[in-house]
Amino acid sequence: MNCSEQYPIDQVIYTCQRCGGLLDVHHDLEALRRDITRDRFDQRLGAADLPYRSGVWRYKELIYPTIPDNYIVSRPEGNTNLYYTPQLARWVGVSKLYLKHEGENPTGSFKDRGMTGGVTHARALGIRRVACASTGNTSASLAAYAALGGLEGIVFFQNQQIALGKLAQAVAYGATCIQVEADFDRNLELVREVANKLGIYVLNSINPFRLEGQKSIIIEMLQQLRWQTPDWIVCPGGNLGNSSAFGKALYELYALGLIDRLPRLAIIQAEGANPLYRSYQRGLQSLEPIHAETIATAIKIGNPVNYAKAVRALRWTDGVVEVVSDQEIMDAKALIDRQGIGCEPASACSLAGAQKLVSRGIIRPEERVVGILTGHILKDPEATIHYHDQTLADIRPQFPNPLHPAAPDIEAISQILEQARPQTALA
Ligand code: F0G
Repeated sequence: MNCSEQYPIDQVIYTCQRCGGLLDVHHDLEALRRDITRDRFDQRLGAADLPYRSGVWRYKELIYPTIPDNYIVSRPEGNTNLYYTPQLARWVGVSKLYLKHEGENPTGSFKDRGMTGGVTHARALGIRRVACASTGNTSASLAAYAALGGLEGIVFFQNQQIALGKLAQAVAYGATCIQVEADFDRNLELVREVANKLGIYVLNSINPFRLEGQKSIIIEMLQQLRWQTPDWIVCPGGNLGNSSAFGKALYELYALGLIDRLPRLAIIQAEGANPLYRSYQRGLQSLEPIHAETIATAIKIGNPVNYAKAVRALRWTDGVVEVVSDQEIMDAKALIDRQGIGCEPASACSLAGAQKLVSRGIIRPEERVVGILTGHILKDPEATIHYHDQTLADIRPQFPNPLHPAAPDIEAISQILEQARPQTALA
């Protein structure tokens, strides 16, 4: 991405051998411009068969044009809902708010869109073993796609603070699970070194084929909006793979004429895991890694590997970076949950961040905003339960829905039901 050195698609390589920079999958946009139209993608909606039934491979020309269909490992993923949420829009302070729920992917997070690309490429390379370090969702996704593709999955994660749903998935889908006494950032270093030594293929978001798949979140969202570009796209930022993929998707769609203007990207970090935000405040000159801490364990990352690509995405889209506290994350999550939609804590950065950006006058009330929900509510049941029973350290829930213990007695239960009317969190 920095020096424009090119490498063949079948070379196993993660960073540029000349300048050390990150790698991009480069598409021939000139040739694609002749081929690709909105109609072409629209005609594939409702396809009964793979690959076009997948919300990733529907856009195959923009993801991995030359891959033969029989290599594709697909659940199929994507086709996630774009919810129109007027009550939450009022709370945020904008006229129109949509939430695209990537927790509705097969393993419950957006990672499946990247993993179908990464595991498919691993098969094309003839590789048998794939690995990642993870705060949880990537490992769940890798484990599932490796199983489906007949590969050995290997996942590294911290021996504490991994959300229970994610851990259960990786174990159950049959990956070799290595619990390391080290945080995500160190685990990512370790997996890269071990993979290099043992000839294992790394499927973290440093792998550019992962990011190609994740571009489809944006393409599908725009198709759901009938190709009408929103004013803002708001998403959480951890390792910054997703925001990087969003930037590339938007750049390419604009270059191809599928959209006629660019939305602005807002990347939201947790206060305790905010290295991009700190850099943003210094004019995005450099990244200083930090030790990360947040209740949103999915984004507990202090040294994001895709920093340079996220900076590029911010420059392409005139983007902004904002931070939200754990308290704001959990209250915003409670509101999303209360709509009957639900998400895991990190996802709620999108809503909390949008609200903060409106209150700071950066997002204007008349603008159209799409928030990305990245993970399913069931990924982290403990965070949800402890929010509502008000036992989370340092968090005073604004929208709790406490359990009502009751004796097995009609009178006692009737009394509870007369007194306890559920609060309406939003008008
Ligand atoms: N939301 C959720 C639910 C995630 O799992 C992640 C990342 C993010 C947001 C942030 O996305 O890293 O592309 O900026 N989870 C990774 C993992 C790190 O290992 O599952 P990002």
